[in-house]
Amino acid sequence: MSTIPSDRSPESTLAFLREGYRFVGARCDRLGSDIFQTRLLLEPTICLRGRPAAELFYDNERFVRRGAMPMRAQRTLTGVGGVQGLDGAAHQHRKAMFMSVMTPAAVRHLGQLFDDEWRARIPAWAGSGPVVLYDEVARMLTRAVWAWAGVPLADGDVPRRTAEMHAMIEGPAAVGPRHWRGLLGRRRAERWAGEVIERVRSGALPAPEGSALRVIAGHRDGQDALLPRRIAAVELLNVLRPTVAVDRFVVFAALALHDHPHWRDRVRGDDAATENFVQEVRRYYPFFPVAAARVRRSFQWQGYAFPQGRRVLLDLYGTNHDPRLWPEPEQFRPERFDGWRGDPYRLVPQGGGDHFTGHRCAGEWITIELLTRAVGNLTGSMSYRVPPQDLALDLARMPALPPSGLVLDGVRRTA
Ligand code: HEM
Repeated sequence: MSTIPSDRSPESTLAFLREGYRFVGARCDRLGSDIFQTRLLLEPTICLRGRPAAELFYDNERFVRRGAMPMRAQRTLTGVGGVQGLDGAAHQHRKAMFMSVMTPAAVRHLGQLFDDEWRARIPAWAGSGPVVLYDEVARMLTRAVWAWAGVPLADGDVPRRTAEMHAMIEGPAAVGPRHWRGLLGRRRAERWAGEVIERVRSGALPAPEGSALRVIAGHRDGQDALLPRRIAAVELLNVLRPTVAVDRFVVFAALALHDHPHWRDRVRGDDAATENFVQEVRRYYPFFPVAAARVRRSFQWQGYAFPQGRRVLLDLYGTNHDPRLWPEPEQFRPERFDGWRGDPYRLVPQGGGDHFTGHRCAGEWITIELLTRAVGNLTGSMSYRVPPQDLALDLARMPALPPSGLVLDGVRRTA
C-alpha cells in the first residue's frame, strides 16, 4: 500500500480561503499527484482531482454525505437537513421529489418566464443610464423562479428576497460580516419559507398543481410523513436560491461575449453554437470549487487507503481545467464541445454521476436552459456597450464575480 502524498502544512484552512479555486489543483501540480492529504477545518482530509477521481467520488457504495459538508456551509448555503446531506434510500426518495419538477416542459416554462422578464425589462434599460447586469438578472430570476415555483411575490419584496438569496450564496467561504449576513439571510429566508409551507398545508394559500411549492409542501417521506416544516422550507429554498444563483453564470456568459466578441455573431440564431458556448461557460468559469463526502467503509483505491469516516473533497474547478480532459483548459473555446456526447465525470461544474441516483445537481437542466435564454437575449434582443470597469476575476474569492457586476451602457432593443 502507498502513502497518500501529503501537503506538509499542519492546517490548510487559511490557505484554502486565500487560494480559493486553485487550492487543490496547485497542490496536485506541486506533488505530481491527483490525490493528496491535508488538514482542513482541523480534520484530516483527502483531496482528489480528475476523471477517475470523479468516478470514484460519485460511487454511493464508497461515500456518504452525512456530516460531510462543513457546518459553516450548511448554516448559510444549503441549510441543515436538506437533500445534500442524505444517503441511501432517504436520499433517493427526496431526490425524486426534486427531479419530479424538472420535466422538459417545466424547464422550458421557467426559461420562458425568464425570457419574458428579460424582454420586458429592455425598454427600462434603454431609457436609463448604466445598469449592473448582475443586479438586474438577479431580480429577473427571482421573479421568474418565484412564479414558476408557485410562490407569491409582491413587487416590493423582490429586493429583499433577492438579497437573502445572495447572502446565503456569499456566506460559506467568508469570515466576518459576509458570513454573518449569510447566517442572517438564511434565518430570515427559512422563517419566511416555513410560513409559506404552512399556509399551503392549511389551505390558506393555493399552490398550482405540479408546482415546486405544492410538491414540496405535500411531499411525504419514506414513512409517509410530511416533511417537518423547517425541512420543507430548506428544500423550497433549495429550488429558489440556486436558480437566483444562475445570475453569476449569466454575468460570466456576458463576460465571455465581451472578451470573445466574434462569438456574438456565431451564437446568434444558431442553437448548436449556443449550446457549445453555454457548456464552455459552465466549464471555464469558477463556481463551486469542490464537493465534499465521507468514506462509508474503509477501502483501497489505486493502492491508497481511504479510512472510514475520512472527509474527501473532489476538485470540481480543477477537473474542469484538467489539461488531460480539456486541452488548453485556460483557453475559452466553445468549439471544443462540437460533437460532445456527454460524460458524467468530465464536465462537473454541477457535480458528476447521475441526477436521479446520485448527488449531481438537481437544477443542471434549468441552469442550461436559463443560460441559453440569457445568451439569446444578450446577442439577439439588444445591443449595448461595456464601458471601462473592473472585470478582473479573482480566483481567490469564492464565489467569484467581476467586481463591477458587469455594467452595461447604451442599451438598445434590437428585436
Ligand atoms: C447540488 C452546482 C443550480 C439544485 C449541486 C452540487 C453542485 C451544484 C456542485 C453538488 C454536487 C455534489 O454534491 O456532488 C450548481 C451550480 C448551479 C446550480 C453551479 C448554477 C447556478 C441549481 C439549480 C437548482 C439546483 C438551478 C434547482 C432549481 C440543487 C440541489 C442539489 C444541488 C437540490 C442537491 C442534490 C443532491 O444532493 O442530490 N448543485 N447548481 N442547483 N443543486 Fe445545484
